[in-house]
Amino acid sequence: MTQPLIIAPSLLAANFARLGDELSAVEAAGADWLHLDVMDGHFVPNISYGPLVLKALRPLTKMPFDVHLMIAPCDPYLDAFAEAGADHISIHPESGPHLHRSLQYIRKLGCKAGVVLNPATPVESILWVLDLVDIIMVMTVNPGFGGQAFLDSQLPKVAELRRAIDAGGHKIRLQIDGGVTPETAPRLIAAGADTLVAGTAVFGKPDYAHAISAIRGTK
Ligand code: DX5
Ligand code: ZN
Repeated sequence: MTQPLIIAPSLLAANFARLGDELSAVEAAGADWLHLDVMDGHFVPNISYGPLVLKALRPLTKMPFDVHLMIAPCDPYLDAFAEAGADHISIHPESGPHLHRSLQYIRKLGCKAGVVLNPATPVESILWVLDLVDIIMVMTVNPGFGGQAFLDSQLPKVAELRRAIDAGGHKIRLQIDGGVTPETAPRLIAAGADTLVAGTAVFGKPDYAHAISAIRGTK
C-alpha cells in the first residue's frame, strides 16, 4: 500500500550563504521533510556540511530532518547527528562493516533508520534488514552531487522494492534521491515510490511553492 506522497527538498541545492532563509522558504512552500546531504570527500567526491550546521538550523523549522549520510565510516558520527537534531538517519550499506548493527543503533538513538542503495547496489543487499528500516532510499544518480541526470535504469529496482515492501507487510517509506523533476516524478510514483527528494528541481526554481506542486503533480 503506497502512503501519501512526501516531498523532501535537498538543502544541497540551496544558497549556502542563506541556509536559514532557504529552509524557511521551502517550509512555507509546502515541503514535508528537509533532506540534508552529508558528504565527507571520501565516501563521495564532494564535501558538504556536518552536525554543527544541522544544530544551528534545527531551531528554525518544524520539518523533520531527513539526514542522508554519505560518509565512511558512518558509525563514529551517528551520535553526533542524532544530538544535532536528525529525525531520520539514512546510511549506505558500503559505509560500514555491520549494516544490521548500525541500523539498530540509529533506532536506539530515537531516530528513524534508513538504508540507501547506490545505482550498482542490489536489492538483495538489504533484504535481511527490512525489519530494521523505516526508509529505503534508491539513488537515481551516483551520490555526491546535485543536478545530475536521472538514471532510468533504476526504475525496475524501485518496482522490485515496492513488491518486497508490500509482500512483507512492512511500513517502510520508499524514497528516491537524484534527478527528481516534474517529468521523472510520475514515473517514480507509478513504480511505487512514495517519498521524493528534490534539490535542483526546487531550489533551482524561482517559485518554490510552484516547483513543489509541479513535482507533486498538482500544478
Ligand atoms: C546526491 C544527493 C542528493 C542531491 C539531489 O548525492 O544525495 O540528495 O541533492 O540533487 P538533485 O535533486 O539536484 O538531483
Ligand atoms: Zn541525498
